[in-house]
Amino acid sequence: MNERLHILHHNAAAALLTRLRDEKTPPDEFRRLMGAISGPLASAATQGLDFYPTQVVTPLGEMADGITLESVVLVPVLRAGEGLLKGFQELLPDTELRPLGLHRDERTCQPVLDSDRYLPESLEGRTCFVLDPMLATGGSAVVAVDLLKQRGASRVVFVGLIAAPEGVQRLSDAHPDVDIYVAAVDDGLDDRGFILPGLGDAGDRLNNTVPR
Ligand code: PRP
Repeated sequence: MNERLHILHHNAAAALLTRLRDEKTPPDEFRRLMGAISGPLASAATQGLDFYPTQVVTPLGEMADGITLESVVLVPVLRAGEGLLKGFQELLPDTELRPLGLHRDERTCQPVLDSDRYLPESLEGRTCFVLDPMLATGGSAVVAVDLLKQRGASRVVFVGLIAAPEGVQRLSDAHPDVDIYVAAVDDGLDDRGFILPGLGDAGDRLNNTVPR
């Protein structure tokens, strides 16, 4: 039992995920569906953010009980993580966007850092959401969280679509304080490190770069 693992229990989201998994779903619909499912994921993962009381003046008078949320940092892991941005940016319009360039070496399955140029020197005291649809071996997620903590992030949350049990274990072992929000945990990994049954290569399907 992993208290940091939160699996979305939402039939509409599960139906979207089923369509995402379908090999017949073309890239344009795949992008739209991933944007749609990022809404409930964002809603679940952002519960518990800090907020500050704010007054607001409506057309009919003053209202004292408004709130403003803490400003959080979105860190989509390129490329596939960009597919999960929509729900977060709609729910949290004031977020800072800090994409992180990582890819997984196809032969070794080891994460490779391509670019951290958009991360600021200091993330002191900030809450960061790492967005990446696939948590496979967990290597990429561990590197992403390492980098954010090295720069001072006070809280890091991982948000994905599908996780393999191996990836959840690796991320939790390396960073037991990180909450993990996903729509599903699948059976495991194949010998190339792909999640089974999964949905294939999310980055390729989103970007229409599936090998032909
Ligand atoms: C995929 C995925 C994760 C990583 C997961 O990205 O989006 O970033 O692999 O694997 P791991 O948990 O074993 O590290 P990929 O390297 O294929 O890049 P892409 O998003 O550009 O397709």
